[in-house]
Amino acid sequence: MSETVYPVPAQWRDSAVISADAYETMYARSKNDPHAFWLEQAQRLDWIKTPTQTDNSSFHKADFAINWFEDGVLNVAANCLDRHLDTRGDQPAILWAGDDPSEQRTITYRELHAEVCKFANVLKDQGVRKGDRVTIYMPMIPEAAMALLACARIGAIHSVVFGGFSPEALAGRLTDCDSSIVITADEGLRGGKAVPLKANVDAALALSHSVTRVIVVQRTGNNVPMTAGRDFWYHALAAQASTDCPAEPMNAEDPLFILYTSGSTGKPKGVLHTSGGYLLWASMTHAYVFDHKPGDVYWCTADVGWVTGHSYVVYGPLANGATSVMFEGVPNYPDHSRFWQVVDQFKVTTFYTAPTAIRALMREGEAWVDRCDLSSLRLLGSVGEPINPEAWEWYNRVVGKGQCPIVDTWWQTETGGHLISPLPGATALKPGSATKPLFGVFPEILDNDGRVLSGAAEGILAIAKSWPGQMRTVWGDHERFFQTYFASYPGKYFTGDGARRDADDYYWITGRVDDVINVSGHRMGTAEVESALVAHETVAEAAVVGMPHDIKGQGIYAYVTLNANEVPSEALRKALIQWVRHEIGPIATPDVIHFAPGLPKTRSGKIMRRILRKIAEGEIHSLGDTSTLADPSVVEALVRDRVLQP
Ligand code: WTA
Repeated sequence: MSETVYPVPAQWRDSAVISADAYETMYARSKNDPHAFWLEQAQRLDWIKTPTQTDNSSFHKADFAINWFEDGVLNVAANCLDRHLDTRGDQPAILWAGDDPSEQRTITYRELHAEVCKFANVLKDQGVRKGDRVTIYMPMIPEAAMALLACARIGAIHSVVFGGFSPEALAGRLTDCDSSIVITADEGLRGGKAVPLKANVDAALALSHSVTRVIVVQRTGNNVPMTAGRDFWYHALAAQASTDCPAEPMNAEDPLFILYTSGSTGKPKGVLHTSGGYLLWASMTHAYVFDHKPGDVYWCTADVGWVTGHSYVVYGPLANGATSVMFEGVPNYPDHSRFWQVVDQFKVTTFYTAPTAIRALMREGEAWVDRCDLSSLRLLGSVGEPINPEAWEWYNRVVGKGQCPIVDTWWQTETGGHLISPLPGATALKPGSATKPLFGVFPEILDNDGRVLSGAAEGILAIAKSWPGQMRTVWGDHERFFQTYFASYPGKYFTGDGARRDADDYYWITGRVDDVINVSGHRMGTAEVESALVAHETVAEAAVVGMPHDIKGQGIYAYVTLNANEVPSEALRKALIQWVRHEIGPIATPDVIHFAPGLPKTRSGKIMRRILRKIAEGEIHSLGDTSTLADPSVVEALVRDRVLQP
């Protein structure tokens, strides 16, 4: 681990939204006088009824509850739109860069407000009411942001499903939250290729039966089949819709959205976020971590299908009246300088992306960066996985020209927004460290028995107290919520990550301690890939673990045991890879299929994943104790046949 320290640059010390002194004072206040601190922070939102309550939460079984600002009433969309109209109605809210560099759109706050009202009226006309679930399966076009905000305006709960998920995955999510309506597009466009979104919805609806309406936004204009009475073109419905739509008053604890994410067991969980605390957290962290100032052009490259797109493309920046860049494409299309062309073209000041993109672009060389003018940049960010110091240094030197602080933001779908991150005017940086907790965040490092470790230590990362942006439940399964996050270490939120705290109280995230892997910054449950594999007719048993991967961070290594009459072959290997893509989506494509005659099991029949992980990592000389295995010879065969970096 790198021990280089980058102090706060002088110009940042003097001009940042939060200085080092302010960080210390505000952090202490968030600890010692949280009620006053949060009432004050709540003023960054426009309330219909200002809350007098703040935190009313307990992580203990007996009185388990998470509640913030319970007596407050607000509307999230009104906070993101209406309140900006007087002061910045003509300022761009969204700058959109299409997959094809010749396509771009500018949408001002006034225009976005009108479009969202129209969209909201269309949803109302289709019978959508407060509390209904609306599934959004869209490409990265402004209508995706409009759809989210339209739901928020009328109090419907959106559930965005990433456009790269398969019909099977979409169907599971539709059924789980009992959505009656899907918003999609004819097709998406990524890297010059069409993504058959509407066709995928049709396939999903053959498997899931809750949906009665499909609203289709025209993106590519290619012909797609429409089912009469069920499917409607958005532009046809919107042609009649009014641009006036009152914002529904919502209690702070009314649901805003569901977002499915992977865990260590079972099917993906519907993470539920509510209105007041979530928006406050998205807005506060966007303002402080990105040092948001009027005039900034802020670009987060994430897709709205992930939490980063929710909090840091749509809700955080728009709540703060920022100009948010929305990008439809991919970093390497038409060529490897596309990111930097967009920065140059829109004069982006703040750029936020994932380490996997940085590593992929780093491999292509500096010339792609150097041909663009990046002098508008003042701040860089990283999210989704640990950033290796080599990638950090490249990002700093080649992209930031040594002039831009890098905020390495640690957080999760469950946390709603950043929990551990540098503040650029306050925090000296150490490459690879997410540094320090934000206001109201109290991290702890635990040993395996749940004992709190003090000082410099390494162990399991837990959070001692609730914060406003915390998820409130797993949709439809409150018991699973408690069991997943609060049962292992009573009274604490268990993050699923490991971390090290150094002598300067800096946090270094060491990766997941559960059966979740992080592939190109996308979170994946190994159990989901396993259940896809065993659903194939040839497969008897499967065990999936992460393996180190130069670009993706982690790759997917699948051990597969075939049924007795099946024979491993190259054709079957390819068929299984296709099968997993079909069941989950291309993001779950296994990197390795290792045909194994048997898997290492304890005498009670439990697969010893520790050993499988070590083999996939190539650490065959530190397999640990194998004497408890039912058949130790299995391990020799696995080591012999292991597949090195594909
Ligand atoms: C990982 C994405 C190290 C972590 C926002 C976490 C990180 C999981 C970082 C959540 C970071 C996210 N450094 N690891 N800066 N950011 N992670 O729910 O393992 O898609 O638990 O949310 O990503 O992934 P999720």
